[in-house]
This record gives sequence, structure tokens and C-alpha cells, in this order.
Amino acid sequence: MSVEDKTYICRCEDVTLDEILKELADGAVSFEDLKRRTRCTMGPCQGKTCRQLVTNEIAKARGIRPDQVDVPTYRALSKPIKLGELAGIGGESE
Ligand code: FES
Repeated sequence: MSVEDKTYICRCEDVTLDEILKELADGAVSFEDLKRRTRCTMGPCQGKTCRQLVTNEIAKARGIRPDQVDVPTYRALSKPIKLGELAGIGGESE
């Protein structure tokens, strides 16, 4: 499969739709299980971009509505900061 043929569900972690569907077919039992198997929703955006897409695929695979999927807890977005800023001696990052 060429790069052009891939549909990326999680762009942060380069997880494709095919990978999600394969793990669901191989027995991923929950969103958490799928997350551990593929790292989907674990990138810098913490699932802000992909969480709903993954939820929709799980719902389709199980034949349930998306609001019935056991969505994991949300985490804050990660953002790089300078060490000086962390130590309280640097300026604000832009
Ligand atoms: S797109 Fe999946 S974690 Fe950012």
C-alpha cells in the first residue's frame, strides 16, 4: 500500500484506519485496549483530533452508537516549554 492509499485516523501517532480495523478484528475489547495496541489518542493533541474518529470506528465495528463507546479519560494537551520557563527564570514562550 502506498502512502497515498492510507487513511490516517491519528495523525500524531501515524495510526491508519487499516491498523484500527485490524486491531478491532483481532479482538481489541475496549477503547483503552485499542489505545494500548496502536497508541491512537496518545500524541501531542491527546486525541483532540482523532478521538471521535476512533470512537466512530469502534461503534461501527460493534454495531452500537458512538455515545455507547467507553471513551477513556481526557488528558491535558501537551505543550513544550523552555527549561528556564520551568525554573521560573525565563520569559514566557511564544
Ligand atoms: S491525532 Fe491522535 S493524538 Fe493527535
